[in-house]
Amino acid sequence: MEKPTYYITTPIYYPSSNLHIGHSYCTVAADVMARYKRLKGYDVMFLTGTDEHGQKIEEKAKEAGITPKEYVDKVVAGIQDLWKLMNISEHRFIRTTDDYHEESVKKIFKKLYDKGEIYKGTYKGKYCTPCESFWTETQLVDGKCPDCGREVIDAEEEAYFFRLSKYAERLLKLYEDDPGFLEPKSRVNEMVNNFIKPGLEDLCVSRTSFSWGVPVDFDPKHVVYVWVDALTNYITALGYGNEKYHDYEKYWPADVHFVGKEIVRFHSIIWPSILMALDLPLPKKIYGHGWLNFNGEKMSKSRGNVVDPAILCQRYSVDAVRYFLLREFPFGSDGNFTNELLIHLINTDLANDLGNLVSRTVTMALKYFDGKLPAEHVSDPMDDELITMANSLKEKVETQMEAFQFQNAIMETMKLVSRTNKYIDETAPWILCKDESKKGRLATVLYNMLESLRIASIFLTPVMPNACAEIQRQIGASAELCSWESSAAFGKLPADVQVIKGANLFPRINLEKELAELEGNSNTKETKPAPAPEKASKEKKEPVEGVASLIAIDDFAKVNLRVAEVLECVRVEKSDKLLKLQLDDGSGTPRQVVSGIAAWYKPEDLTGKKIIVVANLKPAKLRGELSQGMLLAADVGEAASVIFVNGDIPNGSKVR
Ligand code: MSP
Repeated sequence: MEKPTYYITTPIYYPSSNLHIGHSYCTVAADVMARYKRLKGYDVMFLTGTDEHGQKIEEKAKEAGITPKEYVDKVVAGIQDLWKLMNISEHRFIRTTDDYHEESVKKIFKKLYDKGEIYKGTYKGKYCTPCESFWTETQLVDGKCPDCGREVIDAEEEAYFFRLSKYAERLLKLYEDDPGFLEPKSRVNEMVNNFIKPGLEDLCVSRTSFSWGVPVDFDPKHVVYVWVDALTNYITALGYGNEKYHDYEKYWPADVHFVGKEIVRFHSIIWPSILMALDLPLPKKIYGHGWLNFNGEKMSKSRGNVVDPAILCQRYSVDAVRYFLLREFPFGSDGNFTNELLIHLINTDLANDLGNLVSRTVTMALKYFDGKLPAEHVSDPMDDELITMANSLKEKVETQMEAFQFQNAIMETMKLVSRTNKYIDETAPWILCKDESKKGRLATVLYNMLESLRIASIFLTPVMPNACAEIQRQIGASAELCSWESSAAFGKLPADVQVIKGANLFPRINLEKELAELEGNSNTKETKPAPAPEKASKEKKEPVEGVASLIAIDDFAKVNLRVAEVLECVRVEKSDKLLKLQLDDGSGTPRQVVSGIAAWYKPEDLTGKKIIVVANLKPAKLRGELSQGMLLAADVGEAASVIFVNGDIPNGSKVR
């Protein structure tokens, strides 16, 4: 049987030597989708490439004293290297300077002209040179380019025009009849209200003011407008209008074009209109994702606040960076990237939850059974909840993936990981192992842990292909047990599965040390100084009750509260206020917290008790002692009363 096809594209990138992590966002997301679809059995065509024509490139080449082609040849390799670095899977790469593409663009332009869809006229208007965009007066913001905010110039030239205005009604109908054509929904409102309703004008689609572009072959002093040249890549790369490829029939229309929000206009207004004019089918979906900012500002190398993908991948692994990009930010919205968020997520989700589960599971299987489980198992009704959760996960993950909600898909999977960590605490294998008659039960517990990991690793494979392959190797899951279909059936591993010892997948990162090192690195330096840690002070203003002081649930969710057990507690030397506590927060690495409660508690009052710790507080030094978090206490008059929790609650449990 023939596989169903799936055609996914990213924008083609401007060749640039200033690539930052924001640039990789769209392509990593598309790669996750492409890998997911392949796992589900699709024949995937994944297209990306470079957009190499235009005045900007011509000027840059001139500055460098080389030809535009020499210039683009030099920088295109940087984009290809970035995709290698980010572990972008098999894809077709198109360059708009490729001969076959140029040939197709000429044919498309001529066809539109012959059909009367393009006509010759005179262009008078506002032009933004850096963006290569013409704007109408009404589109300017404070007289400046609405995209980049820079000055526009008056431009007048003989030019060809595409009859874009005639498509306004059809576009409105398209958005209405097919709500899935442009997502998220907010982008539709933007297009309708900002561009279509104010009136679509015919689009100037040729230039005579520079020559670095595809010449109009019947009037060669004109070159084709870069956006027409660029947008058509989605079909020329399949062989439309050329003999290089023969995939148009097979893959067009595209299942989805992934694009950043600022270029949605080109993809959801100009592109479908060109296709309608050519009588070609429209892509099934345009998904306009949000932008990643850095410390609240636009990410760009010129602002000196770039986050260098090479440095991040080298320090934390490409898998961790990919995970962060998709897990931290909802795909359709803007996100604020900070190094702290990245390290924190690696520590909590990957080191504490996933990495820890893998190492606990494999270590226990090695310790109790020399790595090979006995075939006799003893199940218990207490296993049911975990098994039911694992068995129902596939449907949930698929629902989220089909809606491009990568963050939710990952979070669903990570719920299984957390539940399995809890299951370990509930079943206490370290107690079962002491009783010879409980060996069968112990084997089942370990087996269930391994099965959860097998299933979670399948769902996480599109995001973290290397780490998941390593998990599968360590838990003894062969490739056929890790097919997408096998994720819906708990119990695939052989009862007497053999595990293999492996490296720690995601070592915990010392946040304070790491930030100091990153800040010392000019490429990842943050422009703004980090705010000074707030000093505990009696004069501190109480928040005023009222709407202004209310926080959203998302704000509260940023606080990572965990149950922790006090392993050890001592006074801090030469301080009558501070106690130093060593906590077991379930991560496997003791956490040191310094707390100003010595006036009300003796060390022995706390040792062995369970408390709640804020686990994602920026580390600070108090009297020279590192404090990684703070414990929760209530103000009772002048005194602090520590919040103790029930001793049965497992260490590391989330408090929310
Ligand atoms: N060449 C055009 C696309 C033509 S498609 C027919 C272009 N190129 S670009 O290099 O400027 O941008 C490529 C993609 O990177 C765009 O989707 C853009 O939104 C995305 N991003 C660039 N910086 C970004 C962030 N800081 N965050 C997220 N995506 C960002 O536009």
